Amino acid sequence: MTAVTGQYRACGKFILCGEHFVVHGTPAVALPFRSIGTQVTVFAANQLSLQTDLDDPAARTLAVRVAHGALERLGLQATWRIEVQSNIPVGFGLGSSAAFGTAVVGALARATGQGLTPAQLNEHAYALETIVHGQPSGIDNTVIAHETAVRFVRGEPFRTVTTAGALTFVLASCGYPGSTMEAVAQVGHLAAARPSHFGELLSEAHTLVEAAVGAFEAGDAATLGPLLSRNHQLLASVGVSTPELEKLVEAAHAGGALGAKLTGGGQGGFVLALVDEAASRAVAAAMSGAGATDVFTTEVTA
Ligand code: PMV
Repeated sequence: MTAVTGQYRACGKFILCGEHFVVHGTPAVALPFRSIGTQVTVFAANQLSLQTDLDDPAARTLAVRVAHGALERLGLQATWRIEVQSNIPVGFGLGSSAAFGTAVVGALARATGQGLTPAQLNEHAYALETIVHGQPSGIDNTVIAHETAVRFVRGEPFRTVTTAGALTFVLASCGYPGSTMEAVAQVGHLAAARPSHFGELLSEAHTLVEAAVGAFEAGDAATLGPLLSRNHQLLASVGVSTPELEKLVEAAHAGGALGAKLTGGGQGGFVLALVDEAASRAVAAAMSGAGATDVFTTEVTA
């Protein structure tokens, strides 16, 4: 008898603009990051086991809860060996939890012959994200389950966006993770405490993201760059930046970036810099010199 197995690889992601404000109803743009990913392979077994290289016990416990959630959603017994291989750093805003949720559902569905549309996969992945993040906007699971760049508004159908040009990004880690759940809660407190101030920020974020969508679609890096930098200032003003992230943003500008911002939940994680291709090495070097522990360069094309 052949063993029942299934495999699925989900990509990472990064948020181009609009994070945090998206939780409060404005649009955001996220892009798939295909050079990193999480691959899950499942084998029918007598009991549930999870093989990962996660060494943090809290992260492991969450992963087990997500695996149970995936089994429940697909109506399956807890009789699987689940093997996870991932090079998405956990808690750095690059989509590790949404990629794991998507890949575990995708692999189990394949193993049991349940064909899922990307929309169904996304619905499952969102439910699993709530185990990890509480009430996320759903942007991470949407970009990862559909593996396409999206303009996303909470509670609305997303729109796929493509760029007419080739945009080069340098992503640099500040060396420590941030808690998206805590960062989202902190922004929520600010929104509740200073509603009219927060309303002004939201309205600026909205206009900025719509302009960024236009510049992204046109492949107009010169226009997009300053919008990203302004987006960073808005994020810093709601308290989700840190001195180390600020240092990387400054270094990116000094190295010749067209724009730079933190990406994702903040309070740690990565800074995203938009660069002319010719400047990518100089910007990467400047960010390394400012303390970046990991630097990736990626090109986004249609
Ligand atoms: O998972 P992260 O760190 O990329 O953050 C997700 C984006 C937020 O807007 C901060 C939260 C959300 O639910 O949209």
